[in-house]
Amino acid sequence: MEQRLQAAIRNIPDFPKPGIQFKDITPIFLDPELFRDLVKRFAQEYKKYSPDAIVGIESRGYLAGPAIALELGIPFVLIRKKGKLPAKTISHTYSLEYGTDVVEVHEDAIAPGSKVIVHDDLLATGGTAEAAGHLVEKCGSTPVLFSFIVELNFLNGKERLEKVAPCHSIITY
Ligand code: PRP
Ligand code: MG
Repeated sequence: MEQRLQAAIRNIPDFPKPGIQFKDITPIFLDPELFRDLVKRFAQEYKKYSPDAIVGIESRGYLAGPAIALELGIPFVLIRKKGKLPAKTISHTYSLEYGTDVVEVHEDAIAPGSKVIVHDDLLATGGTAEAAGHLVEKCGSTPVLFSFIVELNFLNGKERLEKVAPCHSIITY
């Protein structure tokens, strides 16, 4: 599984800026067998946490997240960037290197007291996932796992997240 994922993930040099090696996960979703095995692998890992819901972070958290939720028969909840969700929301503002950003969720999307898995495609600094975790807490629920396809180990995002909940990723660079 790891080898097939590693073969599928492309390294794109100098995107979106010079010096950055972008990990392009899109080829995973061109290969239905690999995609299916990835979903089953995540579902197996998630089961031990008895989750009540999976939240996915816009936008690449929406690729595998809904499929895993479907496999487990639990709700998939969308966390979106500011101003995108139409009904009443709960929001969380977090710091970036320069300035701030906001994530939002519909106030009625997560049943209070839920055990929630936060899913995204990639862990870099951990800022996005940490904000999603805080948003889950603001909804009166508990993040029980942060889960990613890919983790960029050298940015130490894991240390930051593990103060809140354990971290799981399949591929580490
Ligand atoms: C990327 C990636 C994660 C986040 C990781 O999303 O998909 O969501 O950055 O970075 P962090 O750990 O430093 O917070 P991006 O903001 O590029 O948006 P996208 O998912 O809509 O492409
Ligand atoms: Mg993203």
